[in-house]
Amino acid sequence: EKCGYASFMLKEIAEQPKAVADTLLGRIDGSGTLSLDEVRIPPGVLREVDKVVVVACGTAFHAGLIAKYAIEHWTRIPCEVELASEFRYRDPILDQQTLVVAISQSGETMDTLMALRHAREQGARVLAICNTNGSTIPRESDAVLYTHAGPEVAVASTKAFLTQLVACYLVALYLGQVRGTKYGDEIGDVVRDLSGISGAVERVLGTMDPVRELARSLAHKNTVLFLGRHVGHPVALEGALKLKELAYMHAEGFAAGELKHGPIALIEEDLPVVVVVPSPRGRSVLHDKIVSNIQEIRARGARTIVIAEEGDEAVVPYADHLVRIPVTPTLLQPLVATVPLQVFACELATARGNEVDQPRNLAKSVTVE
Ligand code: F6R
Repeated sequence: EKCGYASFMLKEIAEQPKAVADTLLGRIDGSGTLSLDEVRIPPGVLREVDKVVVVACGTAFHAGLIAKYAIEHWTRIPCEVELASEFRYRDPILDQQTLVVAISQSGETMDTLMALRHAREQGARVLAICNTNGSTIPRESDAVLYTHAGPEVAVASTKAFLTQLVACYLVALYLGQVRGTKYGDEIGDVVRDLSGISGAVERVLGTMDPVRELARSLAHKNTVLFLGRHVGHPVALEGALKLKELAYMHAEGFAAGELKHGPIALIEEDLPVVVVVPSPRGRSVLHDKIVSNIQEIRARGARTIVIAEEGDEAVVPYADHLVRIPVTPTLLQPLVATVPLQVFACELATARGNEVDQPRNLAKSVTVE
C-alpha cells in the first residue's frame, strides 16, 4: 500500500525518521548503556576480536564504508570493508579473532551469503545486519542485529540504508563498550546524539521542496558528480548510485581529495556537482579542505550544489545551490546528508519519466550471480 504517496520510494523516504527510531528502540537504556542481548556473540569473544571485516553489496556496502570510520574511531580495531563479490573470490586472511559483519537488507543476496560462508569456513565469526526476519543470511550467521526499517518495496534502498547505518553505529559503540575502549565522554555524547537523530532526519525531510525543484531543473543533464570527504565520501557514492539506478544518468562519486588526481578534468561549464560538506566544528581541517575544493571546481565552471550544516557560512559564497542539514556529530552526518540525495534522485528520475519503484534491469534482491 502506497498510502497516498505517488511511489513506494517516496513513502519509504518519508518513513525514515520512524525506521531510524525503531532501530534504536530498546537498544539504549536511560543511562546511555547499550544492550544488544540479541547479539549472541559472547562479550568474551568480542573482547578478543582483533580485526573487523565488513562485506556487503551496493547500498549496503556504502553503509559498510561508513561503519569503518565509526568502528576504527570508537574501538581502535582495524576494520576493512569489501564488496562481497570481490571478497568471496579472494583468499582473505581471517581467523577466529576476525569479526565479519555482513550487511544485507534482504538477507538473500547471493554474493553476501557466499562471502559469509567463505568467512565461516575459515573460523571467523559472522554478525549479520539484516532487515528481513528469518532470511538466509541471518540464519547462517553466528548472530544478527536486525534493522527495523519495515518492508522495503521500492527497488532502490532508502530507509534500509539509514537503519543499516544506525545498526553499524550500534555495533561500533557496543564493541567499544564491551572492550572498555578509552573513549572518555565521547560515546555517551554520541549515544545521546543518536537518540535525537530521528528528529533531525524529520527536519531535513521538511525542507526538501527546493531540492525537488532543483532536481526537476536538471532533468535534461547527462552527468552529475558527487564529492565528499571522510564519511561524506561514501555518502557521495550513495548519491551517485541512487541517480544511476533511478535516473539512468551518468553519476559518479569521488573523494574530494582525489580531484587533482584525475576527476577535476571532468569539470566543465554548468556541470552539476553535489558536494557533501563536513561539519565546520570538530575536524575543521576537513571542512576547510572541502571549501577549497568547492572554490576549485567553481572556478572551472561547475554548478555547485552544496550540502552543508546549518550555520556554516564559509560555503555560502561558493554555493550555486545550498541545501541545509541539521548540526550533527561528524560520524553521524551521513544519516542526515543522504536524505537530500535520495529526494534529488527520486525527483529527477520522475521528471525524466522513469518508473522509480521498478528501475529498468534491476531486481530487489539479487539471488543470482
Ligand atoms: C541500491 C540497492 C542495491 C542493494 C544491494 C544489496 O539502491 O538497493 O544496491 O543495496 O543489491 O542488497 P541487500 O542489502 O538486500 O543485500
